[in-house]
Amino acid sequence: MKVLVIGGGGREHALVWKLAQSPHVTELWCAPGNAGIAREPLRSGTGTARCVPVDAEDLPALLKWASENRPDLTVVGPDNPLALGVVDLFQSHGLRAWGPTRDAARFEASKIFSQQFMERHGIPTARAATFTDPAEAIRYAETLGGRCAVKADGLALGKGVRVCRGIEEARTAIQDLMTRRVLGPAGERVVIQELLEGIEVSLHALCDGSAALPFPTAQDHKRLGDGNTGPNTGGMGTYSPTPFLSDAELAAAYDRILRPWQEGCRAEGILFRGVLYPGIMLTPAGPRVLEFNVRFGDPETQVYLTRLENDLFELLMAATEDKLSAHTLRWSPQTSVCIVMASAGYPGAYKKGCPIEGIEEAERIPGVKVFHAGTGWENGRFVTRGGRVLGVTATGPDLPAALQRAYRAVERIRFEGAQYRRDIAFQALEWKRAGRPA
Ligand code: AMP
Ligand code: GLY
Repeated sequence: MKVLVIGGGGREHALVWKLAQSPHVTELWCAPGNAGIAREPLRSGTGTARCVPVDAEDLPALLKWASENRPDLTVVGPDNPLALGVVDLFQSHGLRAWGPTRDAARFEASKIFSQQFMERHGIPTARAATFTDPAEAIRYAETLGGRCAVKADGLALGKGVRVCRGIEEARTAIQDLMTRRVLGPAGERVVIQELLEGIEVSLHALCDGSAALPFPTAQDHKRLGDGNTGPNTGGMGTYSPTPFLSDAELAAAYDRILRPWQEGCRAEGILFRGVLYPGIMLTPAGPRVLEFNVRFGDPETQVYLTRLENDLFELLMAATEDKLSAHTLRWSPQTSVCIVMASAGYPGAYKKGCPIEGIEEAERIPGVKVFHAGTGWENGRFVTRGGRVLGVTATGPDLPAALQRAYRAVERIRFEGAQYRRDIAFQALEWKRAGRPA
């Protein structure tokens, strides 16, 4: 079978790596891919995955390429092509594509749609209201003492959310988004949520028209600096599983979120085939959904797929045919950790083209896989091409073992100005030190 993956980051490398292990997959392309993806061997023995020089958001060019090369399955990684309707476009040309349609992608593309859907269907979330008028938004923020999250309605490359702890901060955030329009039209309408305190975790569920198969928990680290300080990023590191919810609590959380979500989708005629990724806060009053994403998390995918034992190709094909209910997800009991190595300057402006050394050496450590996020190949070596450069991933029998392998691997890799967090999973380690149940 021939498979096309759309995207070119660490998540897509993990998707390609996992799809490449399927005996069904005999040809694997990635648009645009990256230098690591281009070297990923196929288990079926037919060479490596291949990069296609087409941008993930250039829908006409993707369609043209796919019409000529006829992949049996197209797997969409990032949110933007989904929100632009790439799945609808492919399907309307008789091409099988995995991921939500544009209509179903509104759970991520519109914070207002998502918030109101949660309220309509009793999904536990933060108290919130929606505004088009900055003065009214400020008045609402005042009623919360300025402790709130101000969220631009539209997609804003992860920059659309400002978490505020006081009224001055909230006022500035509202004025930046709504009056100064620093993010353009994405700030025309905002959702303001009450500030929720607690431990944040990622959930994922693989969904089709009738089933939703929940994943174990993972945790991302969105801030650049140790101790969750500094600016927000796309994600600096993940691990799975987390100790914060027992199996029973996790099942209850999924039940309280996924069941009403599925019923709501059915009632509103939304057919969702893809991954639903709720970002949740574990508050003293129970788990609350902060947001929905409609795709695999990045870098959550790197830790999930290194634990998933099923054939991913079979699962995604089944999802496109509403046959997921015949499958049970199987997870390795191992812990997986991913440490992101980023370019100097990220998440601001950063230099490209710095040579990277030590990837092979790092991968000699048992259980280590280095996923490429922003890399290229120049003059016979890997070079940096993006803000997030590598996702150094390790599995081990428990969290300390996986962390030790991952950091040993990171220490073998060198490029100019490389920055990474030294404290991935610190909340889990604190949790265990405090003697709380795993
Ligand atoms: P979102 O894109 O909506 O997940 O927001 C980005 C980040 O902002 C989340 O990962 C949280 O860390 C934080 N955040 C969002 N909403 C809230 C909230 N209501 N309370 C506290 N933190 C939040
Ligand atoms: N892990 C953050 C994201 O994928 O949005």
